[in-house]
Amino acid sequence: MKSIAVYSSKGGVGKTSTSVNLSYASAIRGNRTLLCDMDAQGAASFYYKVSTQGKFTKKQLLKGKFQKHIQPTTYPNLDLLPAHFSFRNLDLVLGDENGHEFTQLLAKLSNEYDVIIFDCPPGMSTLSEKLITTVQKVVIPVIPTTLSIRALAQLVRFFDKTGTDRKKMSAFFSMVERRKKMHVETVMSYRKKKVFLKTHIPYLADVEKMGITRQPVAVSNPGSPASVAYDRLWMECCKRKHSA
Ligand SMILES: Nc1ncnc2c1ncn2[C@@H]1O[C@H](COP(=O)(O)OP(=O)(O)OP(=O)(O)O)[C@@H](O)[C@H]1O
Ligand SMILES: [Mg+2]
Repeated sequence: MKSIAVYSSKGGVGKTSTSVNLSYASAIRGNRTLLCDMDAQGAASFYYKVSTQGKFTKKQLLKGKFQKHIQPTTYPNLDLLPAHFSFRNLDLVLGDENGHEFTQLLAKLSNEYDVIIFDCPPGMSTLSEKLITTVQKVVIPVIPTTLSIRALAQLVRFFDKTGTDRKKMSAFFSMVERRKKMHVETVMSYRKKKVFLKTHIPYLADVEKMGITRQPVAVSNPGSPASVAYDRLWMECCKRKHSA
């Protein structure tokens, strides 16, 4: 089982767009895939047109009683654990004891899924810390700007401080605009760093339009540059063994 957190402390860098399109790329290639929407804003759930059914509290989540809340999407091999408003307070209850239970959640799902992807909320919180240190891979979208690079550097320091294996980091450039000098220069100077994947995701209107289509780009625009880029990103993530 591959557990993957799509994470950056910076907001609006493309975490949810990545989680949605990677989960689809994984499922279409035959992996039983679960996307867990860990952001109380519920954007990933919105894109997949899935919402919580009945009462779903953070307590249930922490106790591992969430199986019945997992719902199928309209796509084969792809299920979703929708976000709940109460997740916004998950941090307050993720003490050491609950944190331990939380890390056991992944193990419980390992028989049912080949791939589990977590769409993380922005910010550095106890929830993010637990996810980052527990999962097998952390995929980090980085817009080629100073602040996004800074967020990545902070994350590297966090990995070192907590003794988390840097090899599980896979950063990639997100929303790249070739006509922006800063984007081009930043990509050029950082792309050789081991932490970065070779694939980047350009700034493309098809991705933005997911808010309207509410479909992964491979469904709304099959064969489009956006669809091809996300599939390539998925394949590179799967192949990748070493990084930073
Ligand atoms: N490659 C792209 N090209 C164009 N627009 C994009 C691209 N990736 C993401 N966007 C748009 O940028 C906005 C932010 O993207 P997204 O919601 O995926 O980021 P996020 O990191 O999950 O944000 P948050 O931190 O708020 O959860 C959205 O409007 C999305 O449609
Ligand atoms: Mg998001």
